[in-house]
Order: sequence, then structure tokens, then C-alpha cells
Amino acid sequence: MNFVAALNDVAAKNLQVLEEQIRQAIADDEFIFEACEPLFKGGKRLRPMLFLLCANSKDDCPAERTMPLAVALELIHTASLVHDDIIDTSKKRRGVETANSKYGAQIAVLVGDYLFAKAFQLVAENNYGAQVQLILSKLVKDLCIGEIMQDRSLFEVPTMTEYYTRINLKTAIFLASCCRLGGIVADMDSREVENLTAYGSSVGLAFQIIDDLLDFFGDEKITGKPNGGDLKSGVITLPVIRALEQSDEAPKLRAIVTTGGSVDAAIKIIQATDAVDYCRTRAQAHIEAARVNLPLTLKTSAVLALEQVADFIVDRTR
Ligand code: IPE
Ligand code: IPE
Ligand code: MG
Ligand code: MG
Repeated sequence: MNFVAALNDVAAKNLQVLEEQIRQAIADDEFIFEACEPLFKGGKRLRPMLFLLCANSKDDCPAERTMPLAVALELIHTASLVHDDIIDTSKKRRGVETANSKYGAQIAVLVGDYLFAKAFQLVAENNYGAQVQLILSKLVKDLCIGEIMQDRSLFEVPTMTEYYTRINLKTAIFLASCCRLGGIVADMDSREVENLTAYGSSVGLAFQIIDDLLDFFGDEKITGKPNGGDLKSGVITLPVIRALEQSDEAPKLRAIVTTGGSVDAAIKIIQATDAVDYCRTRAQAHIEAARVNLPLTLKTSAVLALEQVADFIVDRTR
């Protein structure tokens, strides 16, 4: 079962409707459905669930008002993964073969483009207005800039600040925007919207730090995507940055990560330092910050659910 469905009945019911509407959204064209349906069978639905939890965190927000945007958020996210897998030449995503592996990069680019366009169609059809459209376009632009920054500095060791800038752009702003949009469609006041945004941003930083740890130490069968890909493709992340600061074998590790050498050898050096604990502690600190930012005006049940999502982020194995 999806982790969020376990949270409460409202979330579980919302999720069921979301799944049906995602299926409908990819059903306009036979090839798109064939290419996308297996991919949409997996995935945690974190972004639409954050949006839905936030939108329903004070009063219940009607599904007609929330669902099309929830679907759009998942379509945008999945489009970005389809493109990310082309960039990373990754063969597996959500436990199934990637579009680029199955159909080639040419077709996969267009599948991703299609999903982006379909998302913006849903938003236009459901009259969310310019404010919502601007938030969505900005999050996509920021995500692209984050990925571009990363791809322009492959095999280079980023500073801590550069690493944080990158994960903020490619991941945290997306999660923050989901929470922000929840507050906006539910007509919350600007202070509540800002607090929900700050919650989402901190959750997003923690989320990417844990993703970067899982890339080294996760179980491929559970994450549904290959391990060691970051190091092989030259993406240098927090566990390495920390280990380079701490290890006696830093020169050896530096040589491995700047040339895409042995993942196993890198893991050995990383594990001999405090890097794994350090990453977990950093992620936990962001989760604490997220919790502190939750508006005091929310329903108790909503606060509980949003806290559980935040805790899940650090403990997750997928
Ligand atoms: C993967 O996101 C991309 C990152 C930002 C790390 P998720 O881990 O949320 O992917 P799915 O939707 O569950 O497949
Ligand atoms: C997030 O980073 C990707 C996007 C923002 C699309 P990753 O490159 O770490 O994501 P995974 O690990 O491939 O899911
Ligand atoms: Mg990737
Ligand atoms: Mg990753």
C-alpha cells in the first residue's frame, strides 16, 4: 500500500480518486497510454498527496477543486522523471523499464513533453487562474535549472552551498510548491500559505538528502531504480561531500568520484566515516524545521498527517 494511504481515510479515498483520474489523463492516446501506464503503476504520489493534505488541512476542500491539480502535479513530476532518466541513461524507474530504454531517447523526450502539456491542459480546463499557472511554471523552470547546474558540473565536487542550491532547485521548490498550492486552492491567508510553503521546502531538502543516501545504500528492489547511478554518472552528493571532509582516504575517494570509478570502493570509504549519520542528522534537522513551520490554525488530524509524512521521509526505504 502507498505510505500516505495508511495515514487516514480521507487521504486513502482521495488517493483512489487520484489513481482513476491519472489513468484517465493518460488515456487520450493509445501509444501514450501503453508507454505510461506501467510507469504510473509505481510511485509514491508524494507531491499530489502533500498538495491534497495541505488543501484539506483546515476545512474540507471539494474534490472537484483539488483533483485536476493533484493529477497535474503527478504528471509534471513523472514527466521530469522520464526526462531525468534520459539524461542519466537509466534503465529502471518505479520497478519497470524506463521509456528511454524501451523506446529510445527520441520517443522518451516526446512522452515527457506530452505529460507536461497534458498537465497544463488540465490546469487551463479547470480555471485555476494565473497565480496557480505561475507557480507551476516557476517550479518546472527551477527544476530544469537545478538539473542543468548538476549536468554542467558532473565529476566536480560541489561545495555544501552548491549542493544545497541544487537540491533546493531540483526538488525542494517542487515539494514547497505542492504545499503552497494546497493553501492557495483552499483560500488560506497569506501567513498560512507561507508557513505551508516553508514546511514543504524543508521536507523537500530532507527528501533529496535521503534520496542521495538511498542511491548508495538503498535496495534496488525496493527503490525500483538502480543503485550507484549518481556516482557512475558523476553526480556528487552529500554522503561524498561529507566523507571528503572527514576521511583519511579523501584523496582516493576524490579520485574515484571525479572519474566515475568503483562504487564499492567509494562506499567502503564513505562507511568508514560519519557521513551516513551526518546525512541522516541533516535530514532529521530539516524535518524538525518542517514541523515547526506547520501553521497553528490547522486541524489536529491534518497536523498529525503532515507530521507523519515528514517522518516517513527520513525513515523511508523507497
Ligand atoms: C524521485 O522522486 C525524484 C527525486 C526528486 C528524488 P520520488 O522518489 O518521489 O519518485 P516516485 O514518484 O516515488 O517514483
Ligand atoms: C531528482 O534527482 C530528479 C528530478 C528532479 C527530476 P535524482 O536524479 O536524484 O532522481 P532519481 O534518483 O533519478 O529518482
Ligand atoms: Mg536521476
Ligand atoms: Mg537520486
